[in-house]
Amino acid sequence: VPAAALTLEAAASRVPARRFSRSLIAAANALMRMKESSRAPGARILDDPWAGELADDHWLLSLIRFGRFVLPPLKRTIDELQTAHCVRHRSIDELVLAAVERDRFTQVVMVGAGYDMRAARFAERLRGARVIEVDLPEIGARKRALLGDHCPEQVAADLSSESLGRALERSSFDPSAPAVFVMEGLIHYLSPESLSSLFSDVARGPGARRAIFSFIRPDVFERASGPLKWLFGLVREIPRASFTRDQLRALCERHGLPAFASWQYAEQVATFAPIARGRRVGSTQDVARADGDGIK
Ligand SMILES: C[S@@+](CC[C@H](N)C(=O)[O-])C[C@H]1O[C@@H](n2cnc3c(N)ncnc32)[C@H](O)[C@@H]1O
Repeated sequence: VPAAALTLEAAASRVPARRFSRSLIAAANALMRMKESSRAPGARILDDPWAGELADDHWLLSLIRFGRFVLPPLKRTIDELQTAHCVRHRSIDELVLAAVERDRFTQVVMVGAGYDMRAARFAERLRGARVIEVDLPEIGARKRALLGDHCPEQVAADLSSESLGRALERSSFDPSAPAVFVMEGLIHYLSPESLSSLFSDVARGPGARRAIFSFIRPDVFERASGPLKWLFGLVREIPRASFTRDQLRALCERHGLPAFASWQYAEQVATFAPIARGRRVGSTQDVARADGDGIK
């Protein structure tokens, strides 16, 4: 058993697995994109006109939103999270657009899509690609009910009990065509077995394959601030695992995605989101890209 797998297993066993039907973190991400989109055009990291429609009125999110006005450490944590999330989201925007426009990938599969609106935000620039979203049934259903025609094709699947490959058989996904798989804010919620199965399905197929994903490093995991831990505990979506760059590089290589690159927060700002320079940030996720053999 590779050392990386042992470490992941140890990390995952710290927090019991939780099956949730409605991700409040996905909704909180939409709220942060909504708030960022309201900044002046020259100051915003990204623009997501649909994020406000998806804002969730769950009482816990309302408690946190209004609680920040009376608890300064909570406000600081939420502001920092907004910057970290939007820089990461913008970085992944740019990586997805480059995959389609420059590298000619014709399929984009958003795994754990949540309230990601890239298909609509970049409808024009992604028109050369088929976009498919995969998430738990309740997330897709809520998104469709609120935004109907703006949603791309959706596949309902719980990746803790079904493989991605099996789920995609219910969609128009074409295994023989080039495909990029986006997994933003997802992999730290999966068991080592589900993670391994996911990457094996991402890499499989006669068509070219690319993975774009975010991850939490162990040092970030360990250093998370008190208010941040409290927030994740409150919504009961505590990340189960953290990963070093080398562990993920090894995982990708093992599954046939050997060309690996990753960006820590400061590199994300410098490369993809210079507008965020100078903004204060706390815990962040790294962003990675891994290509199958033969992709330059
Ligand atoms: C933190 S949210 C990220 C959402 C979106 N990618 C973003 O960055 O805003 C994690 C997403 O993964 C989905 N997810 C978590 N566990 C899953 C599972 N076992 N099967 C399918 N989706 C899952 C959640 O429903 C949620 O939408």
